[in-house]
Amino acid sequence: MAKKPTTLIRKSDFSQPTGSNELAMLDVYMPMMKSSAIIAAGRLGLFEALAVGPLSVAKLAAKIDSSNKGTAALTDFLIALGYLEKHGDHLANTASTQRWFTSRGKVDYTPGLLWTHEAWSMMGGLAEAVRGGHPENILWNAMVEKPHLGDLFSSYMAAFASDLGADLLKHVPVQAEYRQLLDLGGSHGLHAIRFCHHYPQLNAAIVDLPSALTKTGKTIKNEGLSERIDLIPGDLQEQNWGINHDLVFYLSVAHNHTVDENRLVFQRIFNSLNPGGLLVIHEYLTKTPKNALDAAFRLTLLLETGTQTYSYDDYSNWLTEAGFKSVELVHLDPREKGSFILARH
Ligand SMILES: C[S@@+](CC[C@H](N)C(=O)[O-])C[C@H]1O[C@@H](n2cnc3c(N)ncnc32)[C@H](O)[C@@H]1O
Repeated sequence: MAKKPTTLIRKSDFSQPTGSNELAMLDVYMPMMKSSAIIAAGRLGLFEALAVGPLSVAKLAAKIDSSNKGTAALTDFLIALGYLEKHGDHLANTASTQRWFTSRGKVDYTPGLLWTHEAWSMMGGLAEAVRGGHPENILWNAMVEKPHLGDLFSSYMAAFASDLGADLLKHVPVQAEYRQLLDLGGSHGLHAIRFCHHYPQLNAAIVDLPSALTKTGKTIKNEGLSERIDLIPGDLQEQNWGINHDLVFYLSVAHNHTVDENRLVFQRIFNSLNPGGLLVIHEYLTKTPKNALDAAFRLTLLLETGTQTYSYDDYSNWLTEAGFKSVELVHLDPREKGSFILARH
């Protein structure tokens, strides 16, 4: 049967600069309102409430425990933004909202909305981070002070991970003799779980900060993998991860570390890998000139961890210097999903 063509949904994009002097504040006001409305919908469970089918404003308001007046004001704006649509006098999710922000879709990024609600207030300190050239309070310390931040961040990362899982399985060649997987900064554990389910010969260890691992043990237990996946809580710079690994994951972790830290980690990974072993890096690579997404992410990193994204040449040089025999680059589709770097021992 012929594959159904994907319909491209173009939502109104208020975050593009208008370039109009008269309307300059719209560049600030509309993106703020757009983000706030989508985040509020996520916090209220509005998209999930519509996931099973269209509802009248009154029924939706009752379902999300909100006023009719407030629900009508919010949904009017979400319709204008292309997140909801009208079916007669009922409200419905658009196909894109159903796909990305409900449990019935391909990936549910609602945890990203809940995280962005927290990040929103942190962004209030951006001018101070720019002035100082480093975060006022590093994200990992903030997670120790406010433990709910660690849980929220891990849930957000888990949404990314469920989106990335199929790409990883497709591009990472696991040889029959591979036995031991090490997932550095493995957080929610979804990558190690996926690979252990897919490759019954594998056992795994996950190293991450305690703030990222609060729910990971339970998830692993629910998957029946407690005998095969170990947790090593602590700073990966200081922890002993053991030796004789066949496969090492360093997925979206390098941008949280400095140049010297990454070079040291790659040397330690090389020394702990068995001959024929493989290191897999997932990253958002920087290029010259920087595009808007890369520049925005670098600004976020300045505020959160004081670190940055790096170029493919940086990785290639560090990995070669550590002793890796070959280094391969795979760009993901769409490109916003980042790239894999595969380094062979
Ligand atoms: C962007 S998240 C990526 C999580 C996961 N690898 C994934 O791809 O979904 C970065 C992870 O690195 C962890 N991390 C950052 N610095 C660390 C350190 N010094 N030691 C251990 N884990 C660290 C964070 O706690 C977080 O879980």
